[in-house]
Amino acid sequence: MGASRAADHNRTAHGERNVLAMSSPTLASGQDRAPDQAQAPRSGRLSAVEIDKSFLTNRVLKRVSLSLAPGEVHTLMGENGAGKSTLFRVLAGIHRPDAGAITLDATTLDLRNPHAAQAQGIYLVPQEPALMGELSVAENMYLGVLPTRGRLPGRVDWRSIRTRSQDSLRTLGLDIDVRDDARHLSIAQQQLVECAKALLRGCRIILFDEPTSPLTSREVGFLFGIIRRLRDEGYTLGFISHRMDEVMEISDRISVLRDGAVTDEVDRAGFDRSRLVSAMVGRTLSFDRKRTHRAASGRPVLTVRGLTHPSAFRAIDLDILPGEIVGFAGLIGAGRTEIAEAICGLRDKSAGSVVLNGQDITDASIPRIIEAGLVYVPEDRARHGAILPMSIRDNATAGQITRLQNPIGLLDRLREAEIAKQTLARFRVRARGPDQPMRELSGGNQQKIVFGKWMSTNPTVAILDEPTRGVDVGAKEDIYRLIEELSQSGMAIIVISSELEELIALCDRILAIYAGRITAELRGAEITAASVGAAFLGAGSTPA
Ligand SMILES: Nc1ncnc2c1ncn2[C@@H]1O[C@H](COP(=O)(O)OP(=O)(O)O)[C@@H](O)[C@H]1O
Ligand SMILES: [Mg+2]
Repeated sequence: MGASRAADHNRTAHGERNVLAMSSPTLASGQDRAPDQAQAPRSGRLSAVEIDKSFLTNRVLKRVSLSLAPGEVHTLMGENGAGKSTLFRVLAGIHRPDAGAITLDATTLDLRNPHAAQAQGIYLVPQEPALMGELSVAENMYLGVLPTRGRLPGRVDWRSIRTRSQDSLRTLGLDIDVRDDARHLSIAQQQLVECAKALLRGCRIILFDEPTSPLTSREVGFLFGIIRRLRDEGYTLGFISHRMDEVMEISDRISVLRDGAVTDEVDRAGFDRSRLVSAMVGRTLSFDRKRTHRAASGRPVLTVRGLTHPSAFRAIDLDILPGEIVGFAGLIGAGRTEIAEAICGLRDKSAGSVVLNGQDITDASIPRIIEAGLVYVPEDRARHGAILPMSIRDNATAGQITRLQNPIGLLDRLREAEIAKQTLARFRVRARGPDQPMRELSGGNQQKIVFGKWMSTNPTVAILDEPTRGVDVGAKEDIYRLIEELSQSGMAIIVISSELEELIALCDRILAIYAGRITAELRGAEITAASVGAAFLGAGSTPA
């Protein structure tokens, strides 16, 4: 009985209904504000005027102008790397622009740092919540604006901090104990704490950088409830998202950023998927290595049928032919990695089968799957791929420890050194030699070693998850060249990528993955920037 009441309580505390039913009419009453915030920052029209920003030689924002009005949710859309986060970071005082101005109504602002921006009422809820895990929720909320007790400086009034933090979270409909360490919070809760921090500081201009990517649809609903209330109270709201459905639902206005310039701006009457997609991707490819997409032939080397995971993906069917490069196009969170992991035995599935070279490997152990000729090169090198404190030699051969053991169980050190040397040469790794520690290499060179490790097992099918994330342009080219060489030698390759250009440059066939389903298949001449861009956004699953 007690337990079920607790569950009920939780449901109402975190449910959308509770937000809408809340009695408190305003979100940021004066008492929520930190006392040292002498004047209440106002809401207003926040504008970026011809902002230019470069990082070294990389010109990321090119005379960008954007104006966010009070009482509106203004969304910024654009491909990865378009400059969206950079623009919001300039508006929030994190980056100084090289040229241009930031104005609030008629005033030009000088935002030297995030504090200066917050004093003007501008708060950025960052893409990755930046709470300090070891501090309590309350401490996090008051970081930098601690109220002191009485007139004595330095005496922090913890009781009032706790009460006010708790109240402000309750106003948002969030029922968490502010004395708890922030590291115990879910991502969704951390984001709402960030939002509460904005309100505590009296900020009335709030920028959300892709808040929804890690959230479940229920959590998105909850967050949107809050954003709508803020809008109705006249807050100025900036929002970044990739998800077309979501953007259509929450936005009053949409601006599209492409390669550091605004390519379109529309209000609700002008919302149109295909118009937005072409504004996002309608550029000629910046490198001219577009592949002549071949039609592969032969019997499939990998066949997947009905692969299902109750919460991540459903009814996945695949037939991969020898020598084929197949792209999984989709947004982060669409289920691409989960599907790959399930195929490779790294994740449970509730139904379906995986057959490799005629061998059923659906429930085989990971070593057996690798032995059978299927490898998965994960996206997060630092966490899964590379063992940074170890040498290049140890990393390059880690994929085949069982094979390199001689009958009495000793590693064959000579053979190991040979493989490591081959990897260095074949992948053009810039390193001193096989004994250099991995951590001393650049991201691109680390990636090549991780690659080499798996390729030295001679797989028939390789799944590469974001193979060029975080590597420089030169290393990217090397990796593309390698992928093509491997495919020419008959290896079938699945490339998971969030980069449109990468998919177009590499793949013979592209499968669009959206919300855990394969929603479209493109091959040959059908593979264009516009068609792949639309596929990313779930075109085919939801009519435009
Ligand atoms: N702090 C930084 N230092 C150097 N380059 C950066 C930095 N932040 C962003 N960039 C570069 O700026 C470009 C745009 O990045 P970003 O604004 O994060 O794009 P988006 O948010 O649209 O995906 C990318 O090429 C990225 O590598
Ligand atoms: Mg970003």
